[in-house]
Amino acid sequence: MTFISRLLLWSSFVLSGVLHHVDARPGPRPSLLNRRATNDTGRPCGAVFDIIEEDLKSLPFLKDVGLRFIEYYNTTLQFQSTLAYLKSPPAEYQQTAVDVVAELGRVKQKVLNDQYSRQLDFEYDVHSIVHAIHDDHVNLHIGITAAFSFAFPFDIVSASLDGKSLPKLYLRKDILQARGNGWTEEPSPIATINDMDANEFLSQFASQNSFGYLENHADWNALFEHPTNDIQGFYGTLGGQLVYYPGNGLDDTVKVKLENGTEFTDNWLALLNQLHSPGPLETAGDFYNYFVLGLEPPVQVDDGSDSENSGLLFDFEGEDGLQLIEIKVDTNWKEESDDAFPEPDVAQPILTIAGGGVVTGYFQEDIGVLSIPTFEQFPEEAKNFSNTVQEFITKAEHQKIKKIIIDLQQNQGGSVSLAFDTFRRFFPAEPDTLPWTWAGSRRRSHPLGDLVGGSVTEWWKGLNTEDDDQFFDQWDEAANEFVIATRINPLTNDTFENWGEYSPAQGNYREDRWSKVERLNLSDEQVLYSAFSIEPESGEDGPYGYGKNPVTTKQVWKPEEIVILTDGLCSSTCSLFAGFMNQAGVRTIVAGGLPKTGPMQGVSGSRGARAYSSGLLDWHLKFVGLLLAPNNSSLPNIPIDYETRDTGLWVHHAGFNLRDEILKADWEKDPNAEHTPRQFQYEAAHCRIFYTVRNIYNMTQLWSDVAQAAWTNPALCVEGSTGYANLPSQPATAPPPLRPTAQKPKIVINTTTRGGMGEDTNGVLMFNEGDMVAGMAVKRNGLEPCGAGDKCPSQFACRPIPVNCANGERPKATEAKYCLPVCKPAVPTCDRFSGDLKVNGHLRCDLKYEAVTKSRKHDFVGLCTPQGGIKPQNLCPGGAAT
Ligand SMILES: *[C@@H]1O[C@H](CO)[C@@H](O)[C@H](O)[C@H]1NC(C)=O
Ligand SMILES: *[C@@H]1O[C@H](CO)[C@@H](O)[C@H](O)[C@H]1NC(C)=O
Ligand SMILES: *[C@@H]1O[C@H](CO)[C@@H](O)[C@H](O)[C@H]1NC(C)=O
Ligand SMILES: *[C@@H]1O[C@H](CO)[C@@H](O)[C@H](O)[C@H]1NC(C)=O
Ligand SMILES: *[C@@H]1O[C@H](CO)[C@@H](O)[C@H](O)[C@H]1NC(C)=O
Ligand SMILES: *[C@@H]1O[C@H](CO)[C@@H](O)[C@H](O)[C@H]1NC(C)=O
Ligand SMILES: *[C@@H]1O[C@H](CO)[C@@H](O)[C@H](O)[C@H]1NC(C)=O
Ligand SMILES: *[C@@H]1O[C@H](CO)[C@@H](O)[C@H](O)[C@H]1NC(C)=O
Ligand SMILES: *[C@@H]1O[C@H](CO)[C@@H](O)[C@H](O)[C@H]1NC(C)=O
Ligand SMILES: *[C@@H]1O[C@H](CO)[C@@H](O)[C@H](O)[C@H]1NC(C)=O
Repeated sequence: MTFISRLLLWSSFVLSGVLHHVDARPGPRPSLLNRRATNDTGRPCGAVFDIIEEDLKSLPFLKDVGLRFIEYYNTTLQFQSTLAYLKSPPAEYQQTAVDVVAELGRVKQKVLNDQYSRQLDFEYDVHSIVHAIHDDHVNLHIGITAAFSFAFPFDIVSASLDGKSLPKLYLRKDILQARGNGWTEEPSPIATINDMDANEFLSQFASQNSFGYLENHADWNALFEHPTNDIQGFYGTLGGQLVYYPGNGLDDTVKVKLENGTEFTDNWLALLNQLHSPGPLETAGDFYNYFVLGLEPPVQVDDGSDSENSGLLFDFEGEDGLQLIEIKVDTNWKEESDDAFPEPDVAQPILTIAGGGVVTGYFQEDIGVLSIPTFEQFPEEAKNFSNTVQEFITKAEHQKIKKIIIDLQQNQGGSVSLAFDTFRRFFPAEPDTLPWTWAGSRRRSHPLGDLVGGSVTEWWKGLNTEDDDQFFDQWDEAANEFVIATRINPLTNDTFENWGEYSPAQGNYREDRWSKVERLNLSDEQVLYSAFSIEPESGEDGPYGYGKNPVTTKQVWKPEEIVILTDGLCSSTCSLFAGFMNQAGVRTIVAGGLPKTGPMQGVSGSRGARAYSSGLLDWHLKFVGLLLAPNNSSLPNIPIDYETRDTGLWVHHAGFNLRDEILKADWEKDPNAEHTPRQFQYEAAHCRIFYTVRNIYNMTQLWSDVAQAAWTNPALCVEGSTGYANLPSQPATAPPPLRPTAQKPKIVINTTTRGGMGEDTNGVLMFNEGDMVAGMAVKRNGLEPCGAGDKCPSQFACRPIPVNCANGERPKATEAKYCLPVCKPAVPTCDRFSGDLKVNGHLRCDLKYEAVTKSRKHDFVGLCTPQGGIKPQNLCPGGAAT
């Protein structure tokens, strides 16, 4: 057993025994490691709700801040590709329509009418709009709601007794116990939650809280625990991603009653999703500044007096009780999944719960299973991913494996090149006439997008490659989303000349304007370098089957000998890959869903072609502002004296979908007509199965059940779930179901009432020393100065950072070199690094920190960079005191 250098250090602290600190992953799921390790055994949750009630809920709403945020967010969402379709979706779209711009206008009007008195109410209203978009690429982490989330105190799964009867809810521990006892007794299902029918309670809960899915079957599956979550260190929605305060206002308890009469009672849990050490927050103003604006309280000089008991409201600083864990590198997922995963026959090197190796393969008699829980990989890991897929295929062929299951449960996407690469490993030959990896997409056209696209494309085309800097700029920016000159126009089979050809003034339908369809050129070395950090002369290859990585293998299995297994949560790159597979004739088996019969879609996460973020957009707008400056023109919506856009609130992350996937078959019917994005089409799986009590925590059993349903016993498919999906060779026999007419329950969150049983004295909350263990983890996990010779651990890069000391103190050096951690653009993982450095503001995933040159070994996708510099203790005369 070895340890990797990329330690995912977690920390947990417990405020008055109730506040659980989880890893600040702005992605949708909090980390399992944190919660597992916290001491959440039955301790009351009162105090945290008191914090929320008394302090966070009472944070006032400032009109000006709210209006500036709406301006920022509305400008950002002009780039969201699906606005027109969300407003009036086709009947087969399963979620409710929403007019996003009108809803933002409604919130703005409420602000103008002084209808908000509390920040939390405002944030909840904005979240309800984001939630209604049901697109995994559209997410928002702002202000107080980014800082706190909530969790159900029990781990739950949903499973059928025999695969035929409708699923019931079980405590995960009861399933594991029954499995451990060899199923001598069936576990007793959950009958009621808070005296309400458990299914009814949770299906309402799912539609209110599960985030980013195209139908309520996926909303349901997203609630629960799953072995494939366990191996990635994630919890389900119930396990810690609840945005809205779930207590009913008067008490925060949850009562679960099993069918056999056994009852359990516990409290809702609150999680603090930040690993940021702002120093004590002593006043309501500090609270507002920190949680809402992202500003740290003023630095205090330690005068030696005992200030610890004087009105301290909230303090992250304690370092006692520090717990660090190193991530174990393993060769299997048995331990992480409570033995649900068996010993693999093939495994990617450096298999870890924290990322790194993710792919495993299993041979069960004549069935081969390739488990791909995620496509998220750093560029340097992608090659091992690809090699492992090939190793699986080669070994399976050697062992005369007849049937293949590609398990994509819980797969939220990742590196796009791996969708092409993995697909081509199974289907190496692809004549031009096939649609398989066509991967066309288009975006919403609008004036600001055209201004950015036009300016950036012309800048790129005008680069003088005789000049070293401009030469590198040309390589670095070849896959920039606003450089259209490298994208293929399928109308001409050539690259686009200019932005106008791509986003013409006409091209209107659905009361909106649209670009032409674009395709990526995966043989273009500049694009491969810019998009996937593949250096042309490094001997590294692009995706298999493209450019310098030509096909060398043959197809082993026919499409009908392969199935993909999903749980509906497949999103983004997973959606692209599943789409390639389906177009090649591979069937989808989907598992789980609401306790009712009928069809279910295989891919209900985002089917969008490009996740983007407001942070990246900010960078582009700033860049375009500089380009336009000589002509004395400025960008709309950007105050002249801001370097970047004014966000109003602290925006940790605001994601949106820039491009829609358009299917080749739709495009070919008439390239100039309206094309409904894949996001809004009903894509039923070919067969749906229920999870069973025997297979939900036993992958061996699950895969065996999938194989039976796929190849030997179609009667295992849930009643009424087949016939909705088509294959290239067989059209669907059933029409897509219409959008359910039942009105969704409207989200009502009562923030006026008070909950919990606080431990406050005179309205001041006290925290036990030793309860807070964040500090040292931050220090260990924070930025380290570079070693001799600018050395940094792998995954870090040495870069100079400006030094700014507090209160105008003169630093001993204006710059200091620090090891900056790498971040991934769609999921900036910088928050956890912003520790004791007295970072001004916040660490951001800065894609343009420094142009990556071809001579540098590590091609970082982005670096976590302190905005505005740092205040290191050794360089700031008074810095050490804080
Ligand atoms: C967790 O709480 C239990 C019960 O209060 C206590 O016995 C145990 O020592 C705690 N564990 C840790 C790691 O703090
Ligand atoms: C959002 O932007 C659009 C396009 O510029 C504009 O028509 C609309 O009024 C804006 N809405 C709000 C709430 O600012
Ligand atoms: C009820 O079921 C649970 C879970 O299967 C079990 O742990 C418990 O012992 C059962 N209680 C009774 C009274 O049978
Ligand atoms: C890739 O795999 C090799 C072993 O084959 C291992 O030594 C190396 O560290 C792996 N690289 C990454 C980035 O995972
Ligand atoms: C583009 O290529 C496709 C596939 O090879 C072909 O069918 C089509 O006719 C070509 N279009 C043009 C305008 O050359
Ligand atoms: C794609 O890139 C390759 C390599 O640069 C180039 O030869 C080819 O012409 C490009 N394809 C299109 C359609 O521009
Ligand atoms: C600036 O204005 C000139 C003259 O109108 C025009 O040719 C040029 O493209 C403009 N530059 C930018 C960056 O818009
Ligand atoms: C540039 O814009 C500023 C601010 O709008 C204005 O005061 C100035 O006169 C403009 N300069 C020119 C040369 O147009
Ligand atoms: C999983 O199911 C298989 C097949 O039924 C069985 O052989 C195996 O022991 C089970 N694993 C566990 C951990 O119970
Ligand atoms: C919120 O709770 C208060 C106090 O219990 C109650 O008066 C009010 O009607 C509730 N509001 C809603 C919308 O349920």
